Amino acid sequence: MPCTSSALHVFSFLQTRNYCKRLKMRAAMLLSVLLLATSHVAFSIKDGLVENGNFEIGPKASDLKGTEMIGRYALPKWEISGFVEYIKAGQKQGDMLLVVPEGAYAARLGNEASIKQVLNLTVGMYYSITFSAARTCAQEEELNISVSPEWGVLPMQTMYSSNGWDSYAWAFKALLGIVELVIHNPGVEEDPACGPLIDSVAIKALYPPRPTNKNIIKNGGFEEGPYLLPNTTWGVLIPPNIEDKHSPLPGWMVESLKAVKYIDVEHFSVPQGRRAIELVAGKESAIAQVARTIIGKTYTLSFAVGDASNSCEGSMVVEAFAGKDTLKVPYESKGKGGFKRAELKFVAVSNRTRLMFYSTFYTMRSDDFSSLCGPVIDDVKLLSLRRA
Ligand SMILES: *[C@@H]1O[C@H](CO)[C@@H](O)[C@H](O)[C@H]1NC(C)=O
Ligand SMILES: *[C@@H]1O[C@H](CO)[C@@H](O)[C@H](O)[C@H]1NC(C)=O
Ligand SMILES: *[C@@H]1O[C@H](CO)[C@@H](O)[C@H](O)[C@H]1NC(C)=O
Ligand SMILES: *[C@@H]1O[C@H](CO)[C@@H](O)[C@H](O)[C@H]1NC(C)=O
Repeated sequence: MPCTSSALHVFSFLQTRNYCKRLKMRAAMLLSVLLLATSHVAFSIKDGLVENGNFEIGPKASDLKGTEMIGRYALPKWEISGFVEYIKAGQKQGDMLLVVPEGAYAARLGNEASIKQVLNLTVGMYYSITFSAARTCAQEEELNISVSPEWGVLPMQTMYSSNGWDSYAWAFKALLGIVELVIHNPGVEEDPACGPLIDSVAIKALYPPRPTNKNIIKNGGFEEGPYLLPNTTWGVLIPPNIEDKHSPLPGWMVESLKAVKYIDVEHFSVPQGRRAIELVAGKESAIAQVARTIIGKTYTLSFAVGDASNSCEGSMVVEAFAGKDTLKVPYESKGKGGFKRAELKFVAVSNRTRLMFYSTFYTMRSDDFSSLCGPVIDDVKLLSLRRA
């Protein structure tokens, strides 16, 4: 059983979690010694695309057999393994025209194929990887992304954007300075040319925010998060997290079955600041944070609910939870942007209060009935009320 959210449909959340933890521990032991296979000089990393992260620098003609790249070092700045194809935008596969989100080229990972690159990181720092991926023929694709000794299997079975491409985020803590980033297709399909397309691999250092005296919640405005590819218009999916301590959205957990979407003010309507979260999959798409509270004290949880101005129309409801207290916030979306504020007052009954948000309903974009969308949440604040 792979360590994915789809596994959650079969096994209970806790069972899957323990299974995944065991797998990870095993992986950590196996990989505790890292051998560097390449002699690339890796410069200390900057936020943005990794070297040749959009695959625009192509292989030499002599390293190509049709679309297949031949030889471990055929793809500049990467090391490949297995059946990896170099795909040009506009190339046809059967009746399907292959689109490429950034530039003109992408890589396709066939069965058990992988691409890897050496990164020079700062030990102890947290990083988030963003990359774009598209399924081609297979229905149940997944990708295993790893920076030894950590890894995560990201499911790609639900499409959120209409052109077939979605961007995904995955975060890790650098336990070593020189590491290998590996993107691996663990799939075994009948047709090896059926694997996912990959493009725009980027990295960003994360600075875990702290609660302040103005807000007990960490990263309540979602300003700290994964890299958003400037040339993509569909945000970044934050997949359901199996391991919450390395969230690409610092402070927050995505504990549900489906992803939430991280959106930017450059391409969406955002209630406050530059970033927000779109709850794209109804009750299956929730974000949560556990806050330290004092038993018997009264708190107000305030937040903004709106729409991303992405043709996501209709009656929406965001449900907020603070421990056992809940609040349903209705929001009528015309799909053109806008927001309202809401407040949930509660008395803490524990030192740790779990705060959670999800959308009651599923919503589809009115301009394209294949993409899931939903209400936006932003500017989450938790304050204790001082008694007079
Ligand atoms: C994912 O990749 C890592 C590193 O290559 C490996 O240790 C782990 O077993 C893989 N997980 C799965 C489910 O394939
Ligand atoms: C990693 O980056 C640092 C800072 O730029 C540099 O001094 C160091 O030589 C790099 N290490 C390797 C192995 O490339
Ligand atoms: C975005 O697209 C523009 C125009 O095509 C290009 O010049 C730029 O390099 C791209 N940005 C990134 C980060 O790839
Ligand atoms: C509250 O926190 C204190 C100290 O951190 C701990 O000893 C106590 O057990 C906690 N109480 C509850 C109800 O969690």
